[in-house]
Amino acid sequence: MNNFSNKVTLITGASSGIGAALSLEIARQGGDIVLVGRRRERVEKIAREIEAMGRRALAVPGDVTHDGDIEGAMEKTRHEFGRVDYVAVNAGFGVAGRFEKLTIEDFRRQFETNVFGVLRTIYAAKELLIASRGCIAIVGSVNGYIALPRLAAYSMSKFAIHGLADSLRHEMKPHGVDVVLIAPGFVRTEIRHIDKTGIYRSEIKDRVPSWLQISAERAAQQIALAMYKRRPVKIITNHARIAIFLQRHCPRFLSAVLSSLSKRGLLI
Ligand SMILES: NC(=O)c1ccc[n+]([C@@H]2O[C@H](COP(=O)([O-])OP(=O)(O)OC[C@H]3O[C@@H](n4cnc5c(N)ncnc54)[C@H](OP(=O)(O)O)[C@@H]3O)[C@@H](O)[C@H]2O)c1
Repeated sequence: MNNFSNKVTLITGASSGIGAALSLEIARQGGDIVLVGRRRERVEKIAREIEAMGRRALAVPGDVTHDGDIEGAMEKTRHEFGRVDYVAVNAGFGVAGRFEKLTIEDFRRQFETNVFGVLRTIYAAKELLIASRGCIAIVGSVNGYIALPRLAAYSMSKFAIHGLADSLRHEMKPHGVDVVLIAPGFVRTEIRHIDKTGIYRSEIKDRVPSWLQISAERAAQQIALAMYKRRPVKIITNHARIAIFLQRHCPRFLSAVLSSLSKRGLLI
């Protein structure tokens, strides 16, 4: 399968989890990749793996919350490849905790990455994507449809970018640019080991049962296909599809189920 041959894809949050798996998957399908993430050694290591596959890769260490980083990454992409066809706006993390334990600062930090980082990336990519009649894949979440207890900040951020994707899709269409909203359920990555300040901590236990999680590689295959086919929305995992169906058609039932799971400590 060579769905991405002669195409250049920039991926934020490419240093681990879904972003890393997506970088490798798109390279496997013939694409060249620009990897953005704060951990230099990680993005450089994945870039070397991609080059070993015979594809071109550019690692650009950067933080989507810093003015100039993502703009610089786009400039390097233009210089190195002359174009960008796909941008996967994936960098994100989760601020978790009971509402009364969180502060405005926690909400602000969540929005800086998950909302303003997304906006900054799209503004920086817009002209290049219009030139290539490209595609933006925004990695939201099932939590952009259903808010979970202890995840007010994260859910708010994912509802916000769900709204952004649905609005932007109409505005970008006349320019030939498609907007794909990716809404994953539980995927096995580092995300549930990251604390509310964005730091990885191995001692934080992932409370989501393993059978409910799919691998990042499987998620990446589905995301790559949705990007290639330019589907407006791709919900990933069966449990996410069922939950969103229940939210639409039996919201009270779903609320009771979530309450009960949360009391038993079986959610986030
Ligand atoms: N895993 C799930 O169950 C799940 C479910 C629904 C949605 N999602 C979404 O999927 C996306 C990827 O998460 P993941 O599950 O793959 O988690 P992950 O393994 O923790 O990966 C998150 C990525 O985002 C990057 N990142 C975080 N803050 C950043 C910043 N300020 N600037 C640049 N990069 C930043 C991290 O790299 P550095 O630390 O090197 O910067 C890392 O590469 C997120 O948007 C998340 O909300 C995940």
